[in-house]
Amino acid sequence: MQINTLYYGDCLTIMREKMEAGSVDLVYLDPPFNSKKDYNAIYKDETGRPLPNQVEAFTDTWELSNERLRTIRNMLVLLRECEVDEHDANFLASFISSLVNSQFDMAAYLAYMTERLLEIKRVMKDTATVYLHCDPTASHYLKIAMDVAFGKDNFLNEVIWHYKRWTATAKRFQRMHDCILWYSKTTTHKFTQPLQPYSDEKWIEDTVRGVVYGKLVRLKDSEGKYIKRKEQRGGVLMHDVWHDINFIAPTSRERLGYPTQKPVKLLERIISASSDPGDVVFDPFCGCATSIEAAEKLNRKWIGIDITIHAVRRVARLRLQDRLHLKEGEDYVIDGVPQNWEGAHHLWEQDPYQFQKWCVEQVEGFVNVKRTADEGIDGRIYFDMSGVNVLQSMALEVKGGENVGINAIRSLNSVLQFENIQMAGLIMLHDLGTRQTKNFRETMALAGDVEIDGKSYPKLQMLTVREILEGKRFDMPQPVGRTKSGYDSDLINHPISN
Ligand SMILES: C[S@@+](CC[C@H](N)C(=O)[O-])C[C@H]1O[C@@H](n2cnc3c(N)ncnc32)[C@H](O)[C@@H]1O
Repeated sequence: MQINTLYYGDCLTIMREKMEAGSVDLVYLDPPFNSKKDYNAIYKDETGRPLPNQVEAFTDTWELSNERLRTIRNMLVLLRECEVDEHDANFLASFISSLVNSQFDMAAYLAYMTERLLEIKRVMKDTATVYLHCDPTASHYLKIAMDVAFGKDNFLNEVIWHYKRWTATAKRFQRMHDCILWYSKTTTHKFTQPLQPYSDEKWIEDTVRGVVYGKLVRLKDSEGKYIKRKEQRGGVLMHDVWHDINFIAPTSRERLGYPTQKPVKLLERIISASSDPGDVVFDPFCGCATSIEAAEKLNRKWIGIDITIHAVRRVARLRLQDRLHLKEGEDYVIDGVPQNWEGAHHLWEQDPYQFQKWCVEQVEGFVNVKRTADEGIDGRIYFDMSGVNVLQSMALEVKGGENVGINAIRSLNSVLQFENIQMAGLIMLHDLGTRQTKNFRETMALAGDVEIDGKSYPKLQMLTVREILEGKRFDMPQPVGRTKSGYDSDLINHPISN
């Protein structure tokens, strides 16, 4: 297992395949409740404009797929394999099953999280603790899963992180806090007590207190004088409601354009309270690597995982390279992002959806989160056209299998009738033979060219993964979002505000 590694992939797979038991000192996780919503928000944030074909995807996240139902059915077996207390295992397995009929999204989510929490426990050292960052939408369900996975006696705190933010009027009190559930693996966990400032200096106590006849009193010496403290503490023992750490302001220098980004200060507090310099901090849902920045600053080692290639490749890299001045290959490694054809082929075999996402993002596109019946495309590359307010796009179709037939071009041609789709591109994992390439190119040429801002581009185009890896891209206007000139540097050079 490599330390200071950013993995691309599902944290469940990475933990199972790459991480040893008892190998990390501290875990912080900030999982999504509604991951597709997160992805959409990420995409939307990048272009600064809503992407039309993704709006619907907000609704369908925690569907009960066959895979999820299998996980729910196997839950009891899994809990037993992980040596969870038999009564607790029975309770959680039947609780999740009973949710299937009334709240299928919660059943799916809880099954998904439980699988990962059990694996997190396996990779923790006995002295390690885990902080699960969530909000009141699911914190009560997650606490049950945590109680079962870690044992209710190992519950340490529910930290309330209270923040201030802009809100809209609603027929309820404003929601202004997140919950952070903190559990240990055993009773020998690490903790360095942080202090917080006295709320009022006049309350600073300079006498020593003790319990006499069951009452807490100020102690006196043999002469009847109050016993004075030898040294003053720098504050009171920190409590479990944190209101001194702000949400990242829209203009803050810290903001990287990642919608669910948490403040580094929050992570610094967690890491300094529950690990020592040199320890390994693990974040299985690391997003734009906030925990990694905090770990680096506090001289900890780290492991981060994220399933969104964009998070791993761009935002995290920008943070590590440009803000922390770390060198990829020397100070840290990125694992799981295909670097060559064999890696891409392996990804296709492991997970066709991730492969499709990787291909689309390689060419600066945005993956299509939800397929609609009339638009079976895998993604789009967006671009601006003079005099038109709405983003225009090139539709993308990705083929990972062998023997792609000429029909692929016919179906690609048919998407050109949709609104705002000016061009369409085919991406293929496998190279075509010389005759087939000629045949494909000739068929594509029949679709003709499109003129955009005085330049003409072929309406239908194709690229192989090998060509993409060699740096070849579709012939089209500058894509919006990912590589628009200035975007990357904008991301890290926000004006300093705090
Ligand atoms: C709430 S965000 C984390 C934000 C992070 N704390 C930060 O400050 O940037 C959740 C992240 O989990 C990632 N994610 C979702 N499902 C995942 C999975 N199964 N394995 C790894 N990462 C996952 C998403 O891509 C997203 O970046």
